[in-house]
Amino acid sequence: MVIDIITTMRIKQLLKTEATEQQISVKGWVRTCRDSKTNAFIAINDGSCMSNLQVFVDKEIVTDESILARVTTGASIEVKGILVESPGKGQSVEIRADEIKIIGDCPEDYPLQKKRHTNEFLRDIGHLRGRTNTYGAVVRVRSAMSFAIHKFYQEKGFVNLHTPIITASDAEGAGEMFQVTTLPFHTFNSKAGIDYSRDFFGKKASLTVSGQLSAETYATAVGDVYTFGPTFRAENSNTTRHLAEFWMVEPEMAFCDIYGDMDLAEEFIKYILKYVLEHCAEDMEFFNKWVSKGILDQLKAVVNSDFARVTYTEAIDELIKSGKKFEFPVSWGIDMASEHERFLSEEVYKRPVIVYNYPKEIKAFYMKMNDDGKTVRAMDVLAPGIGEIIGGSEREDSYDTLISRIEELGLIKEDYDWYLDLRKYGTVPHAGFGLGFERMIQYVTGMANIRDVIPYARTPKNCNF
Ligand code: 4AD
Ligand code: MG
Repeated sequence: MVIDIITTMRIKQLLKTEATEQQISVKGWVRTCRDSKTNAFIAINDGSCMSNLQVFVDKEIVTDESILARVTTGASIEVKGILVESPGKGQSVEIRADEIKIIGDCPEDYPLQKKRHTNEFLRDIGHLRGRTNTYGAVVRVRSAMSFAIHKFYQEKGFVNLHTPIITASDAEGAGEMFQVTTLPFHTFNSKAGIDYSRDFFGKKASLTVSGQLSAETYATAVGDVYTFGPTFRAENSNTTRHLAEFWMVEPEMAFCDIYGDMDLAEEFIKYILKYVLEHCAEDMEFFNKWVSKGILDQLKAVVNSDFARVTYTEAIDELIKSGKKFEFPVSWGIDMASEHERFLSEEVYKRPVIVYNYPKEIKAFYMKMNDDGKTVRAMDVLAPGIGEIIGGSEREDSYDTLISRIEELGLIKEDYDWYLDLRKYGTVPHAGFGLGFERMIQYVTGMANIRDVIPYARTPKNCNF
């Protein structure tokens, strides 16, 4: 008995293979089909890489005309044939079809007929946009970056910590939390107010804005930890840099101060950039050509140079000295807007810049107070084109100072008793930061809108698909 062994291959794998006489099978979606009297050329894509595979169809071999009529843009097909050297330019190999099977037909109203669509149009078909070159590339680079993040921390010996998504504490104290409740809606209207003791957790609970506080507990137990998960913010900001649901990477290190924190942030960003440049060459070429011209050279330059490091006070001086008219005027004490952050990294320092020692009034309660009594050991990494990409700090490790900060800000001490315990029992200097994963993807790909670097964007008034 002759067994017909046909290897099914993904296009990425196939394009690296030398032409052989072996029969193979490829499955994917039709991008284009050019048909002539004697033959046809089909470009199929299976999402494993940017490139399409060219299928050469000799109509004397593939004789069923009704099949070719169904090879329309968007249809899913299986092609069996021989991999041969391609006489055309643009690809080294192509497949010479012996047999074509339609797996799923695609009617004419398929929205991705044209070669290029606007990102706005594609946002409305979020369930299909992954089939375009741009969004295929985004999701592949996103996946590679996610892997690089775990690789970086695992190689450094950090423990991956899964911090809770439902929480009773407001880590940033900014009150931008989505509530989690099973209370029926009518109870919210009662004159007596809301009785949270009747709620699922017996108290008010929300979706986390940051895993930091929970990461601190384990950093002060096992040393170096990182958490990488979804975070949620109910801020009503319709900008190109804000999502209501985004992913954050948060390392937390015991026995570490703000300088060690900055060192880690810089090393981390460079590691991700290097990883993507090495492992996502084809997709990055695409971004370089079509999305953000010159981004490859810019990122390579960042890998090979030091970030700038300046205090908040120095940064404000630079902004004032520049004489530039900003929409929001500059003075010591302001919470920098993205126009200021971008000006610093794009115009003043022309590379990523770490700004540290911010006024305490504009930063969270848990940041370590400096001796001047005015600033805290916060640090933000500002990237060209984006602005703030990382926010972090050395944490307040003095029990008494932390209590006074909690009281000063009108927070309820009892809510933070467990957090205060970390300072009561064997306190240590410790520090960490949060990298906004989507902002980092924007930085790497040059994609202008944060809605386009997450598969399903959640923003105000938008929770589709
Ligand atoms: O600066 P943030 O608010 O810092 C924290 O949450 C700290 N608890 C982190 C820590 O020290 N462990 O947020 C960190 C980063 C920002 O720099 C930004 O990149 C991103 O998270 N980010 C957002 N990304 C998308 N949409 C939003 N609404 C974001 N808010 C913050
Ligand atoms: Mg911040």
